Amino acid sequence: MKDRFNSIKEHFEREAVLFDQNFVRFAPHYKEAIEALVLALPFARGKKISVADLGCGTGNITRAVLEKYPHARVTCVDLSQQMIAMSKAKLKAYKNVEFCVADLRDFKFNRYDAVVSSLVMHHLEPADKKVFYRKIYNSLKKGGVFYNSDIIIGSSRHLQDISMEDWLKFLRKGCSSAEIRRTLKNHKREDRPANLMNELELFRAAGFRNIDVVCKWYYFSVYGGVK
Ligand SMILES: C[S@@+](CC[C@H](N)C(=O)[O-])C[C@H]1O[C@@H](n2cnc3c(N)ncnc32)[C@H](O)[C@@H]1O
Repeated sequence: MKDRFNSIKEHFEREAVLFDQNFVRFAPHYKEAIEALVLALPFARGKKISVADLGCGTGNITRAVLEKYPHARVTCVDLSQQMIAMSKAKLKAYKNVEFCVADLRDFKFNRYDAVVSSLVMHHLEPADKKVFYRKIYNSLKKGGVFYNSDIIIGSSRHLQDISMEDWLKFLRKGCSSAEIRRTLKNHKREDRPANLMNELELFRAAGFRNIDVVCKWYYFSVYGGVK
């Protein structure tokens, strides 16, 4: 079987150009989640902070960060060259952004005030997250934060069923049957979403404090903590 990360990379290389156009039809609350994630950053508006955007995609999260913190120095990391190319084009007005095509699992972290990530962590193997979240924690300055927006599975069969039903209801509004079939197939093959309580426990084990859930809408949530 093909390595799961090769398949993830190929998927996003293929879909990068149409990502912005399509993704809002596939991910409920996408824009609200980005807004919530940026609002959660506790630094004064305009402060010159350093930020890493893990799995930056086409740069939507970094752009939202830069709207609040135009002087921020941001490192955008993504597995997909095409995604990074889209980010570069979107963020070309900003001189303080660096781009890195890399697998997060091998990425050499610098020091940051904030690490942000949207709809990426569910690609990691659950067993790798303990070490990975600790790595993020170690990369933060004291008072630094990690906020993550992600897919989250329900704590019980019933809650997972209603979460999935809510997502399907959203998909049916904007996608064709073929697109829904493809999305669910990719989801099954590529994604390893976690339970929110487990995620918060991993944050605690990594050392984070003030751990909190900023928002949760059925299958999607924004949560994080402070060093
Ligand atoms: C669903 S997209 C989200 C993009 C962006 N964060 C957003 O919310 O608009 C997931 C992104 O994560 C990237 N990705 C997945 N696994 C990765 C890994 N191991 N290392 C780096 N990037 C990864 C993909 O290439 C893709 O750009």
